[in-house]
Amino acid sequence: MTQRLTLPRPDDWHLHLRDGAMMEGIAPESARHFARAIIMPNLVPPVVTGAQAAAYRERILAVTGPGFTPLMTLYLTEATDPADVVAAHAAGIITAVKLYPAGATTNSASGVRDFDRVRGVLEAMEAAGIPLLTHGEVTDPEVDIFDREAVFIDRVLDPIRRRSPGLRVVMEHITTSDAVAYVRSQPEGLGATITTHHLVINRNHILVGGIRPHYYCLPVAKRETHRLALLEAATSGDARFFLGTDSAPHADAAKESACGCAGCFTATNTLSILAQVFEQAQALDLLEGFVARHGAGFYGLAMNAGSVTLERSESPVAYPARIETGAGPVTVFDPGFPLYWRVL
Ligand code: DOR
Ligand code: ZN
Repeated sequence: MTQRLTLPRPDDWHLHLRDGAMMEGIAPESARHFARAIIMPNLVPPVVTGAQAAAYRERILAVTGPGFTPLMTLYLTEATDPADVVAAHAAGIITAVKLYPAGATTNSASGVRDFDRVRGVLEAMEAAGIPLLTHGEVTDPEVDIFDREAVFIDRVLDPIRRRSPGLRVVMEHITTSDAVAYVRSQPEGLGATITTHHLVINRNHILVGGIRPHYYCLPVAKRETHRLALLEAATSGDARFFLGTDSAPHADAAKESACGCAGCFTATNTLSILAQVFEQAQALDLLEGFVARHGAGFYGLAMNAGSVTLERSESPVAYPARIETGAGPVTVFDPGFPLYWRVL
């Protein structure tokens, strides 16, 4: 008998849509299945003002059409004006503010170096109920790249939370058992997104048998014990954990290079992979919460109207190996196992 699974239309709580020709090529891959997504602001130059966010939202809608709702974010800098943030939120232009430590990842040069210098913005956000989304990695060259998330929790995030206990925070794309434990240790106001790819790969997938640039992202995948902690969190039904794919396209030439860019492009097959992963974990009944309920709850938004139906086939489903865009081909994330679930 064919197995089917119908879910409310899902949300992606962390997505890179880029701009221009790249956006035209890849945005439909998300808009096809997802009703809403939190849009990352790390364009070049970054989206730092409410006016820029409003203009970017119009460019996205021109590509996706009105069936998809981009939830905009501002890129926090040391020069961010608290009044502009509060006004953009009050006007419904932005949903959240993204904190990149300067130098942590792609296009983060304008990010924050001295966290004391954004204290005023964080206090205004706390008062106005605007969530802070963190790229949780320190950039101290002394700290090993595999430890940067855990050190960020101690040195940056926990101090911010102690100083601003009412500030709602989402730890984006968590990769460690330390982050899972930290979320669980907090009484309220803290959630975390988990990507599709971090539920599938550990650092061996990047490095064993040759270097695999399409598995390189930031925060980098950690050892298997951490992947298992993420899987446990995602499939636990705990509403503090929800999907943020961090689908982050780069043209293949920029990935397959002597200094390859960070980012996994999962928009095309994310729901199929997640169904497979949740089925494997005997938690298919909890997929709905992870992709369609928990995030909306955290953000105080209604669930989406409409639904998507997944069907389990007898034979593996074929996905394109890459998406052709006007900015060059983009390789689709290969989970390394056959996918049997497809979205009807
Ligand atoms: O792998 C990543 N890619 N991590 C990020 O934090 C940024 C993203 C991108 O923009 O390419
Ligand atoms: Zn990201």
